[in-house]
Amino acid sequence: MSTAADCPPSALHAFLRRRRSVRRFASRPVPESIVRRLLDTARWAPSAHNRQPWRWVVLHTPAARTRLADAMSAAFRRDLEADGLPPDNIAARVARSRARLLTAPVALLLAADLSVGDVYPDPARQQAETTMLIQSTALAGLQLLLAAHAEGLGGVWTCGPLFAPEAVRQALDLPATWAPQALFYLGYPAHTPEPRPRQPLDTFVHWR
Ligand SMILES: Cc1cc2nc3c(=O)[nH]c(=O)nc-3n(C[C@H](O)[C@H](O)[C@H](O)COP(=O)(O)O)c2cc1C
Repeated sequence: MSTAADCPPSALHAFLRRRRSVRRFASRPVPESIVRRLLDTARWAPSAHNRQPWRWVVLHTPAARTRLADAMSAAFRRDLEADGLPPDNIAARVARSRARLLTAPVALLLAADLSVGDVYPDPARQQAETTMLIQSTALAGLQLLLAAHAEGLGGVWTCGPLFAPEAVRQALDLPATWAPQALFYLGYPAHTPEPRPRQPLDTFVHWR
């Protein structure tokens, strides 16, 4: 077990506080060995019953990205049309999300495999089990973002797949039990984002 001597707590806290969501990337490619190392570290996240429900899809071919972009764009457009947004606004938003997916140096889909949880006879406990699998999957996502930060990479979690699960499953030929959670975009940062504001500690910590 490593000790604080390997990494002083103050350095680790500073490292954690410096992570930012990065949305613009340099064109410099990210070596595949680094992507593998990130995924390797992400699997050391904690998970309920140690079931490790996270499933990653590395979108490394243009064909896969295009298939996913087409499917997600269509679903996104349908939702925005149903919201009654003006057509030029819809076109701009769909184009922006599509361009992100097609151009990011690294794009990773994260899904939760809901088949690995325990099965309960009652809906309340079943829902709790599903929540645990999704919580566990999210922890792997954070672990990946922090590992990317350690590599000098920037990254962002985006939630589009959560809103178009069937389209994502079909486009990538994923099992029905995989619940798409997020798309991660990674790359060498093209900018250093300002810190987004955080609420003061006392607004959300309650001591009883
Ligand atoms: C569950 C989740 C969903 C998010 N979805 C998106 C998204 O769809 N698009 C996006 O640009 N950023 C997304 N983000 C990034 C947040 O906007 C970002 O973490 C937040 O504004 C705080 O900024 P920071 O990460 O730089 O500290 C998401 C983050 C999380 C944790």
